[in-house]
Amino acid sequence: MRTIVAAMANNRVIGNNGKLPWYLPKDWEHFREVTNGGTFLMGRKSYEADDRLLSEKWNYILTSNNNINLCDHCSIVGSLNEFYSLTYNEEEVFILGGGNVFSEALKDESINKMILTFVDASPEGDTYFPKVNWSRWKEVKSLSFDRDEFHKHSFTIKTFVRMIE
Ligand SMILES: NC(=O)c1ccc[n+]([C@@H]2O[C@H](COP(=O)([O-])OP(=O)(O)OC[C@H]3O[C@@H](n4cnc5c(N)ncnc54)[C@H](OP(=O)(O)O)[C@@H]3O)[C@@H](O)[C@H]2O)c1
Repeated sequence: MRTIVAAMANNRVIGNNGKLPWYLPKDWEHFREVTNGGTFLMGRKSYEADDRLLSEKWNYILTSNNNINLCDHCSIVGSLNEFYSLTYNEEEVFILGGGNVFSEALKDESINKMILTFVDASPEGDTYFPKVNWSRWKEVKSLSFDRDEFHKHSFTIKTFVRMIE
């Protein structure tokens, strides 16, 4: 299973100046629960972000540059196909963005599942989640969270699976 995990605002913004435009601790908690023990893939820019999230198992960084600083449990891949072949026998792997990587990953049918957080906000941003053809996806789970003293925005986490044609 190849799963995209992303959080986007009402205007599809996912990032601004190399960072997430919000701070939602319960979304991070949920992220940790669903990705626990899994392998991650992220683009080089997301990897270099201060608020990056790393797997304790393994992290693949998509880049065309062989000279980036690699953390423990990290290695580079030069293409999505390389990542797919290195992880073909894993039960579930997680594709964590950013915008560039989501766009490429959704160009074909390689992704089977998406866990998307819809943040009820319209922040300024420079990175967007790609437009999705929703007729190909079935919503199988939805969890809503209200705003509170720790969460400036309400948000809903929805899980979608690709429909088999
Ligand atoms: N809200 C969310 O769910 C979420 C999740 C993750 C990130 N973000 C945000 O998204 C922003 C970063 O996204 P981004 O789109 O700017 O960058 P990105 O997708 O994280 O990284 C782009 C980089 O990945 C590498 N890359 C992508 N496709 C490649 C390919 N086919 N072959 C080789 N290398 C490839 C390239 O690295 P090189 O230039 O090194 O070759 C490219 O510059 C940040 O603001 C971050 O906070 C948001």
